[in-house]
Amino acid sequence: MKPRTPVFVNILTIIVLLLVLFYMFVQDFSFFKSPYFWGTLVISSVLALIHDSLGDLIENLKFKALSEEEKTAYLAEKRKPYLKTLFQSAVKKQSQTEEKDLLIDHGFDGIMELDNQLPKWWLGLFYLGTAYCIIYLISYFFTDFADPIKEYDKEYANQVAQIDQYMKTVPQATLETAKFKEDNIEEGKAIFQTNCVSCHMDGARGGVGPNLTDDHWINIKEKTVFKNVFWMVQNGSPNNPAMVGFGKNGILTGNDIEKVAAYIYHINQQQPPITPAQGGAEPKGTVAQWEK
Ligand code: HEC
Repeated sequence: MKPRTPVFVNILTIIVLLLVLFYMFVQDFSFFKSPYFWGTLVISSVLALIHDSLGDLIENLKFKALSEEEKTAYLAEKRKPYLKTLFQSAVKKQSQTEEKDLLIDHGFDGIMELDNQLPKWWLGLFYLGTAYCIIYLISYFFTDFADPIKEYDKEYANQVAQIDQYMKTVPQATLETAKFKEDNIEEGKAIFQTNCVSCHMDGARGGVGPNLTDDHWINIKEKTVFKNVFWMVQNGSPNNPAMVGFGKNGILTGNDIEKVAAYIYHINQQQPPITPAQGGAEPKGTVAQWEK
């Protein structure tokens, strides 16, 4: 007769399995507040305790049937701490006589096969793995757990919300603070292609909206080209509703306007104009004297 697994080990196993189970189905630790979790924990622990007391009864009955010798051996075995026994049984080697009993008739070339019992730690891991596997499969098929597409969607929504939040708090350039920066030209060009090219045409050579590469301007609101463009994109044209206030209407942020203004500044000041001979629109307005 072998000593039984102490009840605290069983209860510990139950707790671990319940934690895994609830975590997989609920997918966060909010179940700590749920009466279902605590209810299941209490009921299964009580069952484990009942199981243990029944085991005690059976053990007592069996114990009475043992011979004196077996009784002392059993009591000695029982007095050893459980974890120590577990460790010993995991690593112990059998004696020669025991090996003879385990020998299987498979010997070949002097190599013998023994029908050893599997080590306890191995069996424990195996049972735990099997239990986990069952829980995993059930939660995989019946809940959102470990569903990559759902996880992706959630993560994506999270990121978008974070970007929104960031955009709301990040300081935006204003007419006063905006500056021309070389680094903004490329991104400004992309913003131009999405928002402006339909009216101002490729390279801002002019279409419905005027040619922005020449030195003629209809609207002169600021002292420099860069600030003037910022003003126009922020507020729109006071004369022509076709040129809407992208900033005012919330279509572009201050930082976007700073970028697109950098692009217009670049093609207006750092590159030669696209003349009507090259397919540019006729100049409109008056020649502007910009400050540098
Ligand atoms: C729906 C057509 C349309 C779109 C889109 C448009 N514009 Fe305009 N834009 C115009 C028109 C028309 C004018 C001339 C306004 C006026 O007569 O006062 C103009 C004027 C301007 C001016 C002033 C030019 C001047 O000579 O006074 C700037 C700068 C400008 N737009 C930049 C932009 C930028 C940058 C974008 C994109 C963010 C953009 N526009 C998008 C139609 C448009």
